[in-house]
Amino acid sequence: MKAISIAGYGGVEVLELTDQPKPPIKADQVLVAVKTAAVNPIDWRIRSGGLAKFIECDFPVILGREVAGVVAEIGADVSDFSVGDEVFGFLQQLEMKWGSFAEYVPADACKLAHKPVGLSFEQAVAIPVAFHTAQQALFQHGGLQSGQTVLIHAAAGAVGSVAVQLAHQAGATVLATASANNHDYVLGLGAHRVVDYHDADFGAKLKADYPDGVAVILAPFAGQSLQGSEPLVSATTKIILLSPVANPADMKIGPVKSQIMICAADGKVLEEVAEQFASGRLKMEIAQVFPFNQVVQAQELSAIERVRGKIVIKVSD
Ligand SMILES: NC(=O)c1ccc[n+]([C@@H]2O[C@H](COP(=O)([O-])OP(=O)(O)OC[C@H]3O[C@@H](n4cnc5c(N)ncnc54)[C@H](OP(=O)(O)O)[C@@H]3O)[C@@H](O)[C@H]2O)c1
Repeated sequence: MKAISIAGYGGVEVLELTDQPKPPIKADQVLVAVKTAAVNPIDWRIRSGGLAKFIECDFPVILGREVAGVVAEIGADVSDFSVGDEVFGFLQQLEMKWGSFAEYVPADACKLAHKPVGLSFEQAVAIPVAFHTAQQALFQHGGLQSGQTVLIHAAAGAVGSVAVQLAHQAGATVLATASANNHDYVLGLGAHRVVDYHDADFGAKLKADYPDGVAVILAPFAGQSLQGSEPLVSATTKIILLSPVANPADMKIGPVKSQIMICAADGKVLEEVAEQFASGRLKMEIAQVFPFNQVVQAQELSAIERVRGKIVIKVSD
């Protein structure tokens, strides 16, 4: 099969179009014929070797952690899926070998959901990581409840944009940060107030209007946006961080130590929410769809970290 693989760590030059054997599947897996893959910041962090301490690479490695496609084979223990089913999901794994930048990928059946007819393969592949992360950060880790106030950073990004919508749906007051050009977009997703995290005083300005501060902070990135949130933090605020922090001292914001979470794939939860995306009740913007031979350009765009929505790769028709 055709795959974009890497034989070692490095820059985009290590991404190669290669011929690879069709991947084997375990009893609890299905083989997916890939229609679309999505690009996540973790792909280029794995490629660069920056996550070598946490994620083991069995080279040659095929990157790509989100997939939408058609079931081509099923393992002996799989009963929820049949050959020909249209599926999508998050290929969560702590060792990297087979990914979705390829014609076929093995996937744990429990991490996949059936794709609703009303969702295209491009739309479906954009959902799993952003949805799982936003949902688990806000409700499982943050314990967010109706009537509480939440601050969502990087609200125009993939995770942040879903978090704004879920928090709004849950009856929370949603404060958000984004660059000025994204404010109307984030307000349209349901945020009550949006400020620019480049403004050093954004926390104090929000505190003037929300004197009780916030119950939960979702911070996809450490740095100025997280540190600037301090005026809104009280002893009971839960701060959820999604990326590693270079300096452990930066995890403490006012009286609270932030926690880093790692999202978990769950096909059943994805299946339950899929119709909300199909009906447009929840939205995921697609930043750009790249052809399969432009994975390099797709990863370069992701690494700029200024994308609004999700970057998708069309692997096959
Ligand atoms: N732990 C986990 O399980 C998990 C899961 C998913 C994602 N993540 C991590 O979460 C982060 C966000 O993921 P994503 O897919 O949402 O990324 P993304 O879509 O690429 O995020 C891009 C957005 O982030 C904003 N941004 C960039 N740098 C920022 C900063 N220093 N402070 C505040 N906002 C900033 C930009 O907003 P403006 O353009 O408005 O400035 C841009 O819209 C990534 O680091 C990713 O690796 C972790």
